[in-house]
Amino acid sequence: MKKFTILSIFLLGLHVSYSLDNGLALTPPMGWLSWQRFRCLTDCQKFPDECISEQLFKRIADRIAKDGYLEAGYQYIIIDDCWSNMSRSSDNRLQADSNRFPNGIKDLADYVHNLGLKLGIYGDYGTETCGGYPGSINYLELDAQTFSEWGVDYLKLDGCYAALHGMEEGYAKMSQFLNATGRPIMFSCSFPAYKGLEANYSMAVQHCNLWRNYGDIDDQWDDVKDIAGWFSDNQDFLRKFAGPGHWNDPDMLIIGNFGLSLEQSKSQMTIWSILAAPLIMSVDLDTIRPEFRNILLNKHAIRINQDPLGIQGELVSNTSSIQVWKKPLQSTKESRQRIALGIVSFRCDGYYYPQDILLAEFFNEDCNTFSIIDVFGDNNLAAERLYEKSENLTVRVPPTGAVLLLISAV
Ligand SMILES: *[C@@H]1O[C@H](CO)[C@@H](O)[C@H](O)[C@H]1NC(C)=O
Ligand SMILES: *[C@@H]1O[C@H](CO)[C@@H](O)[C@H](O)[C@H]1NC(C)=O
Ligand SMILES: *[C@@H]1O[C@H](CO)[C@@H](O)[C@H](O)[C@H]1NC(C)=O
Ligand SMILES: *[C@@H]1O[C@H](CO)[C@@H](O)[C@H](O)[C@H]1NC(C)=O
Ligand SMILES: *[C@@H]1O[C@H](CO)[C@@H](O)[C@H](O)[C@H]1NC(C)=O
Repeated sequence: MKKFTILSIFLLGLHVSYSLDNGLALTPPMGWLSWQRFRCLTDCQKFPDECISEQLFKRIADRIAKDGYLEAGYQYIIIDDCWSNMSRSSDNRLQADSNRFPNGIKDLADYVHNLGLKLGIYGDYGTETCGGYPGSINYLELDAQTFSEWGVDYLKLDGCYAALHGMEEGYAKMSQFLNATGRPIMFSCSFPAYKGLEANYSMAVQHCNLWRNYGDIDDQWDDVKDIAGWFSDNQDFLRKFAGPGHWNDPDMLIIGNFGLSLEQSKSQMTIWSILAAPLIMSVDLDTIRPEFRNILLNKHAIRINQDPLGIQGELVSNTSSIQVWKKPLQSTKESRQRIALGIVSFRCDGYYYPQDILLAEFFNEDCNTFSIIDVFGDNNLAAERLYEKSENLTVRVPPTGAVLLLISAV
């Protein structure tokens, strides 16, 4: 008992002194980002509804506020690359493209704030952004001040055209400049994605609220598979750095776009929820089909993702191309031990695979009875009945689909 207390104090101390303390991202950030769906579309003549413009962000902000996304937790609407003028102003400030953002970023921030949302923006630590717009390398402090004056609440700082050497220290400086503005600004870093596992992850924890670890996601199942594989291959290393205030980021949810089937969308939602990943959508919320919207809004999946313990879950078994992922969840008054189990099929043989789940494998010996929520409701697990430890559940997993269970010992 005493040992435990000393350990707890030690861990608490570690947490306080070595992680970014801006009060933000205590659970994984949730929001919407323009990149995956709208890329660097700047031709507003040809694509008036889709070009990177204040009209796009206002249109999506309306949907987030009115279609239940904000209520479900999606709060940040984030501008990615290609928003700015190709040159800085005469006083070296970043400025929005005046054709596409005629009222400026401050006006857009006011607009989204009035809807109860928060505004994010994109910058780059190097000489240029990935799309060739002005980079921040010589203007980190000025850009932090500009973003703060505009009322920005989140900064994604990319790492194109930047020297890898000293990148951590540069991002640390930016984090301090953001802090010095006095405005709480969530900070999304990119150096781990550029430096790989060589990156100093302790510095990410210390200076960033979230950070991209790996390559960009594109709109296809192969990318979900590749990213999930990289996260599970490296889970022993990565999991240590995730927790309240500081998260690994496997990149955007592509659910509702062109590349994922309905079952594959459940798989992405399952893995991202288990990983305590930021849930950042990138989809046209005006045209998304209701069955995909329902996955993004699934309240049990979101509850698993947003669990206050903030433990990044892990792959616990991997046979016959069926993976079982597990995430411990905070106990409640009714349940002293709770977990989420994600059963994901990487099979493509068209077989509605029966996977046995033996409850005893996942719980302490003294847990005997369980209640189970079948998050997407595709299996015949009755929420109203209790399950015994000795029971083998057989869940059916469609090819490239997933079953997500929230299991509570009662
Ligand atoms: C700045 O950092 C200090 C110390 O870590 C913290 O207490 C404060 O809340 C931060 N302020 C902002 C605006 O992030
Ligand atoms: C870009 O900025 C320059 C001056 O800094 C201005 O003359 C020009 O109109 C701006 N163009 C756009 C598209 O914002
Ligand atoms: C990471 O940076 C910290 C400074 O914040 C330093 O103490 C530590 O040695 C660095 N770790 C590695 C592996 O370079
Ligand atoms: C899971 O299995 C696949 C092959 O079926 C393998 O490529 C992958 O590395 C395994 N993952 C882990 C973390 O063992
Ligand atoms: C549950 O399934 C496993 C694996 O198929 C098997 O070894 C075990 O005997 C089963 N237990 C029960 C109680 O059916």
